Amino acid sequence: MGKNVVWHPTSISKEDRQRLNHHKSAVLWFTGLSGSGKSTIANKVEECLFNLGKRSYILDGDNIRHGINSDLGFSDRDRVENIRRIGEISRLFVDSGQIVLTAFISPFRDDREMVRELFSEGEFIEIYVKCPIEVCEIRDPKGLYKKARAGEICNFTGIDSVYEVPLNPEIIINTNELSMVEAVDRIVDYLKEKKII
Ligand code: PPS
Repeated sequence: MGKNVVWHPTSISKEDRQRLNHHKSAVLWFTGLSGSGKSTIANKVEECLFNLGKRSYILDGDNIRHGINSDLGFSDRDRVENIRRIGEISRLFVDSGQIVLTAFISPFRDDREMVRELFSEGEFIEIYVKCPIEVCEIRDPKGLYKKARAGEICNFTGIDSVYEVPLNPEIIINTNELSMVEAVDRIVDYLKEKKII
């Protein structure tokens, strides 16, 4: 950043926007293996928030990689940059007074912590979507595990690229044990308990 670039404050604040929305803003950061259920749960939680009249938006790995991050692949370096950009975009959404739900593998602990640092206390909610890789591999909704095992895709998370399990996430959703309704209730209850909604 050039030294002549200075932050320009806006006259309407995040708190003003939250008051207008009648709820706080936050980021629900879903992390987990491919096929663990991140996008499916994020979508169901958003449906629930929408029906409750809350303002939200989903940032999803596959979709974001079609647009703003279409220049990035799956090397460690590109994944770091992917998550850095998503973190910054999420911050804008939170500043706009909304609840943003992100569904990215986000395999590296340091990157998730770097994103957490962008937010005020309580705004970043890490949700570990936990599921054994064997189960993800059986589900294989996009046929990607099969391709990875056949050597057609390299650097595939859980196979030849690392996934670092969250050490202290706010919420753990074990999709191998919980029903979808239970998973959604757990997340929405958390938001109520923390007085975000
Ligand atoms: S990351 O690691 O956070 O940068 O990945 P993300 O942006 O979430 O993108 C993951 C989706 O991309 C597809 N895909 C791969 N995933 C992992 N490893 C490799 N090599 C790969 N190649 C393509 C895959 O569909 C992921 O989507 P989900 O929804 O997680 O299955």
